[in-house]
Amino acid sequence: MSINVAIIGFGMGFNIKQYHCNMIKNTRGLNLYGICDVDPNRLEEAQKEYQVKTFSNFDEVLNDNKVDLVVISTPHNTHADMTIKALNSGKHVVTEKIMCLNVKEADEMINASKRNNRLLILRQNRRWDTDFLTVRQIVNDGILGDIFSIDSSVNMFIKPSGWRAKREFGGGYLYDWGCHVIDQVVLLAKSEPKKVFAIMESRVWDVDVDTHTRVLIIFENGLSTEVEVSNISWISRPRWHIRGEKGAAIYQCNRAFVKTADGTIEVPNIIGNLHEFYQNIVAAINDGAELLIKPEEVRTSIAIIEAAFISAQKKETVSLSEVGYK
Ligand SMILES: NC(=O)c1ccc[n+]([C@@H]2O[C@H](COP(=O)([O-])OP(=O)(O)OC[C@H]3O[C@@H](n4cnc5c(N)ncnc54)[C@H](O)[C@@H]3O)[C@@H](O)[C@H]2O)c1
Repeated sequence: MSINVAIIGFGMGFNIKQYHCNMIKNTRGLNLYGICDVDPNRLEEAQKEYQVKTFSNFDEVLNDNKVDLVVISTPHNTHADMTIKALNSGKHVVTEKIMCLNVKEADEMINASKRNNRLLILRQNRRWDTDFLTVRQIVNDGILGDIFSIDSSVNMFIKPSGWRAKREFGGGYLYDWGCHVIDQVVLLAKSEPKKVFAIMESRVWDVDVDTHTRVLIIFENGLSTEVEVSNISWISRPRWHIRGEKGAAIYQCNRAFVKTADGTIEVPNIIGNLHEFYQNIVAAINDGAELLIKPEEVRTSIAIIEAAFISAQKKETVSLSEVGYK
């Protein structure tokens, strides 16, 4: 039997239509059952485009016994509460990034999932990005020898707008993009994070959120990583720069190069298949397959982000234990 999915938040961007509605419609075992939004115009648009049941209020979705899975795609400050409420109502939940805003919320979400025996699926879709898959293969190949430095940057020049420009909604670039980049770095590090030092600045745009952030993360295995997310970068840094004792890798302008004592080679890109995200959900719900994205992994990046906010405020290095990690 098909799994009935209801989407909460019919956003303006390509994300909701392209990556949720259309992928759900194209995944065997899923049925796009309903869409919920508090904005009547969005709901009208959703109805026109997808001809599904519409809900103007989240509680109506939770009270509908036909809904098996909800997708929370609302502003960041709402994710933890809505996810826990849905899990407590017996629904499986996909929570858009960012999972939540701190470790306490992450723990409450994970506990609600376990307590209710319902799945908590976190949408770290950038695990399927070409640049990440390609550098991950380079790292796993061992060609660079012992890796001691990984730098990862996402830069652009764009004014944050709407709720993304407001702190109270969980806006700002560290939450919005940092959650992807830090998640990727944690997977590459294969070690536990120990300390974080961050500089967060709000420049150029008249907004009350960070627009230029650098986070130095020190892992237990000695690896250091610098993550930079910036809304005010006229020229971008390379997407990835990785140094090992036997070689280095760079990923920029959609191409990967590795330099070792044997010379420089271009490494072919690895193209990901994002359909795996929803296919995995069907397998997990119907057959008990393991989730590709483990909530505990994402909790690690939430802890780093929480520590980064504290570090930037105190202008000091913050240990992960200070935010209740481990
Ligand atoms: N994974 C990705 O690559 C990716 C890309 C874009 C957006 N997102 C995420 O999707 C989420 C939404 O972002 P967006 O750009 O679509 O925002 P958006 O502002 O365009 O859309 C959010 C929608 O949620 C609705 N909403 C707000 N509160 C609600 C509530 N309580 N009940 C029902 N509807 C409610 C709003 O009316 C709005 O239509 C965010 O978490 C964002 O980070 C992820």
